[in-house]
Amino acid sequence: MFDAWVAMAKASHPGNPQLQRDEAFRSASLAAMTLMFAAQGMGLSTGSVSGFDPLGVAREFGLSAAEVPVILVTAGYPAAGQLATEAAQALA
Ligand SMILES: Cc1cc2nc3c(=O)[nH]c(=O)nc-3n(C[C@H](O)[C@H](O)[C@H](O)COP(=O)(O)O)c2cc1C
Repeated sequence: MFDAWVAMAKASHPGNPQLQRDEAFRSASLAAMTLMFAAQGMGLSTGSVSGFDPLGVAREFGLSAAEVPVILVTAGYPAAGQLATEAAQALA
């Protein structure tokens, strides 16, 4: 999937690194959303975080210069008595 998304970002904006980067950010954001829905389906609660130190994240996870952290997603089991999300509450 990773290789396919890189190829699509390059193919959709040939010769324009800025638009390729924008496209990659869109793909990564959709991936994060899918991850959050999947986690929710497993009974986890999630939260998205964009306020982080990208250089620090890249350093801690050993990312290359071509790998940009787009968004962090927290995940955990909700406390007893708490449903994972409002959506889960609506289904209850
Ligand atoms: C794209 C995006 C980025 C976010 N970044 C942050 C962030 O950096 N810090 C933060 O406290 N909340 C951030 N939020 C909001 C949290 O993910 C969360 O929705 C908010 O804290 C409300 O949580 P609650 O519904 O459990 O109260 C972000 C939300 C989105 C959609």
